[in-house]
Amino acid sequence: MPYQYPALTPEQKKELSDIAHCIVAPGKGILAADESTGSIAKRLQSIGTENTEENRHFYRQLLLTADDRVNPCIGGVILFHETLYQKADDGRPFPQVIKSKGGVVGIKVDKGVVPLAGTNGETQGLDGLPERCAQYKKDGADFAKWRCVLKIGEHTPSALAIMENANVLARYTSICQQNGIVPIVEPEILPDGDHDLKRCSERPPHLPGRHFAEPNMVTPGHACTQKFSHEEIAMATVTALRRTVPPAVPGITFLSGGQSEEEASINLNAINKCPLLKPWALTFSYSRALQASALKVWGGKKENKKAAQEEYINGALANSLSCQGKYTPSGQPGAAASESLFISNHAY
Ligand code: 13P
Repeated sequence: MPYQYPALTPEQKKELSDIAHCIVAPGKGILAADESTGSIAKRLQSIGTENTEENRHFYRQLLLTADDRVNPCIGGVILFHETLYQKADDGRPFPQVIKSKGGVVGIKVDKGVVPLAGTNGETQGLDGLPERCAQYKKDGADFAKWRCVLKIGEHTPSALAIMENANVLARYTSICQQNGIVPIVEPEILPDGDHDLKRCSERPPHLPGRHFAEPNMVTPGHACTQKFSHEEIAMATVTALRRTVPPAVPGITFLSGGQSEEEASINLNAINKCPLLKPWALTFSYSRALQASALKVWGGKKENKKAAQEEYINGALANSLSCQGKYTPSGQPGAAASESLFISNHAY
């Protein structure tokens, strides 16, 4: 057994543990509002709205200032660099707005997916990461996210892609922790393809411990013709996690990965009801499945702000129940509740 150099003091470990448990306190999950400028462009385009800083600011402010009914549901909000430094109309920086509602501030620190010769992609952004983490900590962020992408195909994910991404994720987690930032690792397996549940559950056992994981649920590929029940999806997901994620990880915060809002809530609920031992908090870190209805109702119009906030609040309340296994569909779905949110070869 190699000797592990003690990189963190007991005080540093306690700080990280406290932050993590705050984010996944019972009934809480994460709003992923960290779409890069390129990704938010596509969301705004879908509602015929121009991708200007003003519109991005208006929309993010709408989400972040939704009334206090969201407070018991949202343990953390992940922001993109630009949003971390924006202010609400009352002059408060957005991180302060999030904290005033009991949320922890997160920041996307990867710089997007780049081609890795001989594989299907790797994530860039380790350059200068210690300095960026130190600065983000000073500027109010207490957790971070790093997204890497793996694809299921005849020859993917390759051993090289798995190894490289695992290495990058491990380096990233260590750098974050040394700067007082709880790292979320996001090994996203894209839903593109016709693979079934079994193939999707054969995920690589490469998650290092002591931080958060933001995987996708084990679901059949978008083009798979076989149907699986929510209970089967839940069983496959929890089984795969039990084989790969150490019990020391405080929480697993699923991304929605192209599921509709309703599917994402029902599946999360089924996962929490799954009758297997689950040593971690199992909750949400949704972008599309927490925002689709709000975005649609807002439609880029100032006068729709309140109605859009209601949609977001309803989604947050629903998923707060789901992450406790207490959700039953209300029969009054949101504006985009059952729409598929699948995006081919999704970038973020
Ligand atoms: P989706 O919920 O839209 O999959 O996104 C969550 C996320 O954090 C992707 O990086």
